[in-house]
Amino acid sequence: MDRITVIGAGNVGATVANVVAHKNLADEVVLIDIKKGVAEGKALDIWQSSSINDFNTKVVGVTNDYTKTKNSGIIVITSGLPRKPGMSRDDLIKINANIVKDVTEKALEHSPDAIIIVVANPLDVMTYTAYLTSKKTSQKVFGMAGILDTARYSAFIAEALDVSPRSVNALLLGGHGDTMVPLPGHTTVGGVSLSELLDKEKIDQIVERTKTGGGELVALMGTSAWYAPGAAAALMVEAIVENQRKALPVCAYLDGEYGQKDVYLGVPVVLGKNGIEKIIEMDLNNEEKKLLETSANSVKKIMSVLDDLKLF
Ligand code: NAI
Ligand code: 2OP
Repeated sequence: MDRITVIGAGNVGATVANVVAHKNLADEVVLIDIKKGVAEGKALDIWQSSSINDFNTKVVGVTNDYTKTKNSGIIVITSGLPRKPGMSRDDLIKINANIVKDVTEKALEHSPDAIIIVVANPLDVMTYTAYLTSKKTSQKVFGMAGILDTARYSAFIAEALDVSPRSVNALLLGGHGDTMVPLPGHTTVGGVSLSELLDKEKIDQIVERTKTGGGELVALMGTSAWYAPGAAAALMVEAIVENQRKALPVCAYLDGEYGQKDVYLGVPVVLGKNGIEKIIEMDLNNEEKKLLETSANSVKKIMSVLDDLKLF
């Protein structure tokens, strides 16, 4: 791909640019931020690692100059505040929805055909914000959360079993929040069902730790995570650039799938050169259906705060 733009050169954005460059996924990655010099500095730092890390992708940083992002094939939106202590969820939606709307408009002016990957939180609703702003088909606007949440879940399982996380094949549905739905019944390790390897109490503990996995890191660091989130967004970029048609959990617009309509929610999809090539539907048992519904309702509650902002 000729050019990929990453909006927001903070912790997550810089990591996305770094991993995308390491993987040689584009001729050029443009990192853009409103804070003067930050994107330029981080881009230069990443680019100066090219001969050490053996990549060709040119990394360029700019302050608010969208002309430099022209004709990007993919735009990754990480601009937005992470939640700070004392800040309500509603405050965060208000600030980040305005940022996401603004940057989506500016970026699409120069790259009307780009695929958009949203990372800013609250993820499901910010993805919806980018979708409404872009007026694009939902196939080309989606969000990153499921890959990260599944990776955390897999890491905890791997630790409990003392196996490589790469042997874990896990699935997780729902919104990016405490109501996300890890699916132990659809999780295997080296082809063996998780329930044969761990007792229910341990599985429940892992599921709970996964649901609060983002919060665990905020408590440790005073801000949210970036290595795994950045790598997760870069994995989505890779699937698109290489037209891998890889099955990945992605925050996608649902129009009746899983019994949900007009909402963005984490579900398994096939990612390829056109974005979401297909939403994979699977049978859920009654308990899983109920958990997914609770998760969808919690996302819809946050969506109502977006509605009240009357941005659209
Ligand atoms: P950060 O504070 O390190 O970086 C955000 C950057 O966005 C800052 O450099 C800021 O100057 C920039 N920015 C703000 N407004 C902008 C605008 N209008 N145009 C361009 N740049 C602008 O935050 P971090 O840690 O990188 O997180 C970014 C977002 O990603 C947050 O909303 C966070 O909650 C979210 N996040 C989402 C995850 C997910 O799983 N979806 C995981 C981790 C973080
Ligand atoms: C995370 O899950 C808070 O969304 C952020 O790390």
